[in-house]
Amino acid sequence: MAQQEEVFKKIVSHAKEYGFVFQSSEIYDGLSAVYDYGQNGVELKNNIKRYWWDAMTLLHENIVGIDSAIFMHPTIWKASGHVDAFNDPLIDNRDSKKRYRADVLIEEEIARLDDKIEKEVAKARKRFGESFDEDLFRQTNPRVAEIAATRDALHERFAQAMNDNNLDELRQIIIDREIVCPISGTRNWTEVRQFNLMFKTEMGSTADGAMTVYLRPETAQGIFVNYLNVQKTGRMRLPFGIAQIGKAFRNEIVARQFIFRMREFEQMEMQFFVRPGEELKWFAQWKEWRLKWHKALGLGDQKYRYHDHEKLAHYANAATDIEFEMPFGFKEVEGIHSRTNFDLSQHEKFSGKNIKYFDPELNESYVPYVIETSIGVDRMFLSVLCSSYEEQALEGGDKRVVLHLPAPLAPVKCAVLPLVKKDGLPEKAREIVNDLKFDFATRYDEKDSIGKRYRRQDAIGTPFCITVDHQSLEDNTVTLRHRDSMEQTRVAIADLHRLIHDNVSLTSLLRRLG
Ligand code: GAP
Repeated sequence: MAQQEEVFKKIVSHAKEYGFVFQSSEIYDGLSAVYDYGQNGVELKNNIKRYWWDAMTLLHENIVGIDSAIFMHPTIWKASGHVDAFNDPLIDNRDSKKRYRADVLIEEEIARLDDKIEKEVAKARKRFGESFDEDLFRQTNPRVAEIAATRDALHERFAQAMNDNNLDELRQIIIDREIVCPISGTRNWTEVRQFNLMFKTEMGSTADGAMTVYLRPETAQGIFVNYLNVQKTGRMRLPFGIAQIGKAFRNEIVARQFIFRMREFEQMEMQFFVRPGEELKWFAQWKEWRLKWHKALGLGDQKYRYHDHEKLAHYANAATDIEFEMPFGFKEVEGIHSRTNFDLSQHEKFSGKNIKYFDPELNESYVPYVIETSIGVDRMFLSVLCSSYEEQALEGGDKRVVLHLPAPLAPVKCAVLPLVKKDGLPEKAREIVNDLKFDFATRYDEKDSIGKRYRRQDAIGTPFCITVDHQSLEDNTVTLRHRDSMEQTRVAIADLHRLIHDNVSLTSLLRRLG
């Protein structure tokens, strides 16, 4: 794990050094858990968003997009339950003055017990070698059984406390398990309090009587309150979906792990409206489709897993997360939820408007059920970045850092490099740039040795480098260097467009989804 943490630190500094992600307001010492995307980051992020958007709206004729405002009527957040229940339980350590999420402290304690079990298994595997029967060991070893029993009892007590919203019990668990503050090392804890994660601001001048409004903590509500507008104006019939990409804001108590948990972030959400009773069939379908979308990127199938929720929110009848293996463990990147008709019914109740759908086939009106797919753009960005980063030892003792980004997502698709800065090679290279730039993000670079220029492109994940040499002037060919294999092939300039397109187009990725 320590080694993985080292790698993660390197990825974070690489992201800054190569213009992917900067700390927000850096020259003012930064703003905690807020980040800016640099010249390469914004391109990668836009490509991720385009992949999601096109997969939703081009491949499904019954899904359309919207772009709703960040500010919404405050009653929307009352209806959705966010004003009363969008809380995290927080606890402070009196000595370090640091604030923690009580539930996270306990979850980390459960993870420590899981680690202990894994360590026992690893030790035994080493000791018994070939003859090791892992299942038998897990079932019968008294030490493992003891830790597992402690873990299960803790998990049950924790789940019950969360379910009952019992803040005293959460504190008692922290005390009983002797959990210490990682900074002060003490157990001098305050009470546990609920903390609402929504940012508030005021709309209108005070003379008019200002109204408290919220920065939306999710984009989904903008879809719910527009569902009937879209259904009517788009003449949509159930089942149909509405997709949206936009900013969301949460005043996270503990913001850690770079862009994994931010206070300002971006979501890609899709609400799929279905007939009551058909929701679980559609839930299973979306679970499958969404994993396929992730896997098509080729980051490694073993890096994904589902995490089905045992404990469901009162309004949900099924929920799962798609988790990705980050350097700091498997973490949620996307949530897929069967939200019943809760949100729409709440908006009907709070607005007093009839927002039922008239089903012409059944000749009846009802409030549709909803399947939601919700993915964080920034988390997706982080998963792509982490799984693409590699420090490679090359022959002859040389090294390179390369980002094996999926080519359709790469910020720059090709770099055109004249071998030397004279003899008409820059002019020839410029001609090629001027031809390719209309279809691909193309860079021209003539500074430094060719080796250094290759390394710069490897570091930002450019799939192709095109080198123009003296032979190019004679026969209109260039070398095409492939980022991952570093292989160079001699190709005709006239073929460049096709060769690059076949690799970098989003269409090739979308076709994998069928
Ligand atoms: N509408 C449902 C919803 O918002 P969520 O599980 O709270 O569900 C969905 O959030 C996704 O948004 C998460 O899977 C994650 O990718 C992303 N997300 C949530 N909070 C985030 C944060 N503080 N920073 C970055 N991404 C976040």
